[in-house]
Amino acid sequence: MAGDRPLLSNRPSSELSNDRDLAEEDALLTGQRTNRNNPKTWKSWREIGLFVWAVVATAVVIVLAVIYQKHQDPKQSSPNPSGKRNLIFMVSDGMGPTSLSLTRSFMQFQNGAPWSEQLVIDQHLIGQSRTRSTSSLITDSAAGATAFSCALKSYNGAISVLPNYEPCGTVLEAAKKAGYMTGLVVTTRITDATPACFAAHVNMRQEEDRIAEQMIGDYPLGRVVDLMLGGGRCHFLPNTTEDSCRADGKDIVALAKKNGYSYISDRKGFDDLKGGKALDFPLLGLFADTDIPYEVDRRNEDEIYPSLQEMAEAALTALSEATKDSDKGFFLMIEGSRIDHAGHHNDPVAQVHEVLAYDKAFTSVLKFLENDPTEGVMISTSDHETGGLATARQLHETYPEYVWYPGPLANASHSAERLTLEYQNFLSHDPSGDAKISFVKDSIITGLGVHDASDDEIFKLVDQPDTAQYQYADLINRRSQTGWSTHGHSAADVNIYSSDPKTALPLVGNHENTEVGDFLREYLGVDVGAVTKELKEKGMGLTVTDVTGTQISWMGKEPEKGERLDGQNHLASYGGDFKKRHLQHGRGCDCGH
Ligand SMILES: *[C@@H]1O[C@H](CO)[C@@H](O)[C@H](O)[C@H]1NC(C)=O
Ligand SMILES: *[C@@H]1O[C@H](CO)[C@@H](O)[C@H](O)[C@H]1NC(C)=O
Ligand SMILES: [Zn+2]
Repeated sequence: MAGDRPLLSNRPSSELSNDRDLAEEDALLTGQRTNRNNPKTWKSWREIGLFVWAVVATAVVIVLAVIYQKHQDPKQSSPNPSGKRNLIFMVSDGMGPTSLSLTRSFMQFQNGAPWSEQLVIDQHLIGQSRTRSTSSLITDSAAGATAFSCALKSYNGAISVLPNYEPCGTVLEAAKKAGYMTGLVVTTRITDATPACFAAHVNMRQEEDRIAEQMIGDYPLGRVVDLMLGGGRCHFLPNTTEDSCRADGKDIVALAKKNGYSYISDRKGFDDLKGGKALDFPLLGLFADTDIPYEVDRRNEDEIYPSLQEMAEAALTALSEATKDSDKGFFLMIEGSRIDHAGHHNDPVAQVHEVLAYDKAFTSVLKFLENDPTEGVMISTSDHETGGLATARQLHETYPEYVWYPGPLANASHSAERLTLEYQNFLSHDPSGDAKISFVKDSIITGLGVHDASDDEIFKLVDQPDTAQYQYADLINRRSQTGWSTHGHSAADVNIYSSDPKTALPLVGNHENTEVGDFLREYLGVDVGAVTKELKEKGMGLTVTDVTGTQISWMGKEPEKGERLDGQNHLASYGGDFKKRHLQHGRGCDCGH
């Protein structure tokens, strides 16, 4: 081929207007400059004129389109819209991506559904969240929820305080200040880390007595939560009453009433709310001493405890009604709290029913948003993964088969937690050895649906009742070949879901957990910085009386000079903890959630 012929000259002439374009394409392909002289003729001036006209016309069309769209749709999809809006933030505590695989396969098995059948939540996946805290690559729920509430990283155990032990304002507090109504719905103690992080500030999550006081308004900002539904009654009752778990004699229910709250504590009280239509704000509803039972057990005790879905629906109905004539909507946090506990217990039966219950509440929120006239969005995510769950488990030294069986989960009717409680109760009556054996055999068959328990499995339960909970769970884990790598949390990324990926655009993709917090405050358009300032000013020198009568900071135990409240810096490199921890804690240490 002739060297001076354009490389692309064999293209059809219709694609290329003239030789000059060909020369320029050659220059791009070969990296050599074109050399030609082209004086500005009338033709080229005419081309420039046409080009300018085209640019101006396009700009006009874009401007008109934007104006027209604004006119048509006043509730623009943007992370910071103007106008009234509702925000529902759902937290699936401890639910990692594998919890979804586990639950989806279980659902398909149980319903005889095809492999294409999804959970509702599956259809709303938008991204993932990275979860590390300042003190460890593995976060706990306190640091995890502080990332959501304050949009800042802190140490494991921190309830909306920072590593310098100063309080950080939360999105719920700022929402209340801005005129929104606020609510918290959970299935664990309302004083547990996740809900606490929205309306309390303490240096260590264990200070649940203090958290209870703060959540009903006994702290620098006064009352900020309009609605609380969940468990954890025992932290609100004085230590003189039988069901109390408080260290002191303060009656927090009485204090709550003094601060204006209505108080309900049982199923009847909940039913009297008429699904939220007859709910008087502010309301404190505590339906269990500690946690509401796992869904797998609760579903047989419906006359005692409301479900997560029922509580969520009542909250949505009541908050919508109460803000009907307001120019501000509401902020509601709904937590599937005990997915985490099922992970800690390595109990796949409890886990699938917790996730299905969360999926139901999720569905109710979607339905609410579709029907409610006020603009709104739901974001759902987890604070961390729990259990290092795998839908696979190698049972023998030989190379495994690729199998995972949902069947054994479907046959079980109780959680390992419940079976263990019943067993402990039975043991407290000092039964004979034979009676123990038959009790254990019976609980395995009726509680777990397992008909092939080995003698080893039965006698271990009889001889080592202290670890009964793990043993009951493992009977199912071995048969289903469900694997767990820890009874604690893991550093896995967790999923983010939303009712509306357009509005939640800033959370599409892989993000830090603090970016979830950023989205919450930006969507509501609230000033969290002002709340932080107010907390610091009003909290300066503020003390409370502890159980010994000593005056301590309102945020609880303060660190000694040089002391770290998170115990140690878990970011330090490996230092032989593999051996050390056993010496420090001994066997059976169960150190926190
Ligand atoms: C109950 O609390 C009071 C302080 O309010 C304390 O002095 C007392 O020892 C506590 N009683 C029990 C049984 O813990
Ligand atoms: C489930 O229970 C039935 C009897 O109730 C039993 O025949 C079956 O083998 C069990 N399935 C599994 C997977 O354990
Ligand atoms: Zn946990």
